[in-house]
Amino acid sequence: MTSTPIPFDLLPNSAAVDGGALAIGGCDVVGLVAEYGSPLFIYDEQHLADTCAEAVHAFGEGVAFASKAFLCKAMARIAHAAGMHIDVATGGELFVALAADVPADRLVFHGNNKSLKELSMAMDAGIGRIVVDSFDELDRIEHLVAAGSDIPNILVRIKPGIEAHTHAYLQTGIADSKFGFPLTDGIASSAIARVSESESMSYRGVHTHIGSQVFDVESYRKAIAALAPFLNESASKEFSIGGGLGVAYVAGESESSISEWAAVIKEAASAEGVLARISAEPGRSIVARAAVTAYTVGTIKEIPQVRTYVAVDGGMSDNPRPVLYGSGYEAFLPRSVTSDRALKVRMVGKHCESGDVIVNEARLPHDTVVGDIVCTPVTGAYGHSMGSNYNKVLRPAVVFVKDGVSRLVVERESFEDLVARDIG
Ligand code: LLP
Repeated sequence: MTSTPIPFDLLPNSAAVDGGALAIGGCDVVGLVAEYGSPLFIYDEQHLADTCAEAVHAFGEGVAFASKAFLCKAMARIAHAAGMHIDVATGGELFVALAADVPADRLVFHGNNKSLKELSMAMDAGIGRIVVDSFDELDRIEHLVAAGSDIPNILVRIKPGIEAHTHAYLQTGIADSKFGFPLTDGIASSAIARVSESESMSYRGVHTHIGSQVFDVESYRKAIAALAPFLNESASKEFSIGGGLGVAYVAGESESSISEWAAVIKEAASAEGVLARISAEPGRSIVARAAVTAYTVGTIKEIPQVRTYVAVDGGMSDNPRPVLYGSGYEAFLPRSVTSDRALKVRMVGKHCESGDVIVNEARLPHDTVVGDIVCTPVTGAYGHSMGSNYNKVLRPAVVFVKDGVSRLVVERESFEDLVARDIG
């Protein structure tokens, strides 16, 4: 960790310096906080549209945005307008995507424990694909078709027994995972056989997802090699490799682009003789770097011989990733985005937990004071979407910026919202 300014390659594509201060989408970040309050998620709308377009260009028809990374109606519309399908993993995500007027046939329904009600909601809407995850789910689909639902298109989720190099909580391709059918003991084969032979389902192909925040593309090659025989034997028309492309969060990390990732996957699939159409489901790589979170510094506590704590007005409720996975972030002051960051601090939130850390070893300019707006970059994925209102801290607003214009897309939670469903 150095005292150099925040690297611009961690900021949204439209990030620019204006009089020493950071502008995103042509809007002054400090000014946005003055207008919309703090904490605030600020998304570069053009960046979102561009990464979606890159994914469509790289993978072609069928590539889906994994909405668990960040979902609101405005985001669903951007992904849809760019030509992406949308992966929804619960009835709630399905509901939001439909509320954004995304046609149901552009949606891919995921989940390891879809309820009868969720399946019926998806099938009634005319869902594009269901990625089946268990034999119990197959029973439910057959039951719904027997009761009059249309026959759905099915992908079978298979775990290839591959260990992706990532955090243990983000592994999904190993045999000991709650997701999908294992290749072992003929289990995946019997799932595919059951779907193919069923009159209630239309078999399309195979889905796999080996994990998230994966930098080592070798893991994808191994997964493809393990699944290739299945794909061809089962006459699969489609093969989705899932998501997982790792992104850089802190200075010194480097990432592959979506196009580079797609090239590796397509090349590996072709080397293995896979005949199915290849697609994927990126989430993080579409949205992570498109956003920064802006907070206001409330207290600065210097503890001699120990450290300095800088506390801001959000925390683990808007970014639980440091607490959950020990994830690293950077911090900087948007008022002086090119300044050296010589002050070593721990940036914490306002929750009643010692573990409520946003940046364990942050660097900020030495003149940081109470009242400053401080930003963390690369917070566009799994921040807003995994947020909570622990301690009844209000969920932040989300603003989209583009061409010098800002628009509020998700309002800040209000105190009234906190008791809206609390009927006493
Ligand atoms: N497809 C499936 C079936 C998935 O389960 C996921 C992520 C994705 C696609 C998208 O993966 P991505 O491209 O975003 O890596 N909360 C964790 C990440 C959990 C990922 C869950 N599944 C985090 O904050 O790192």
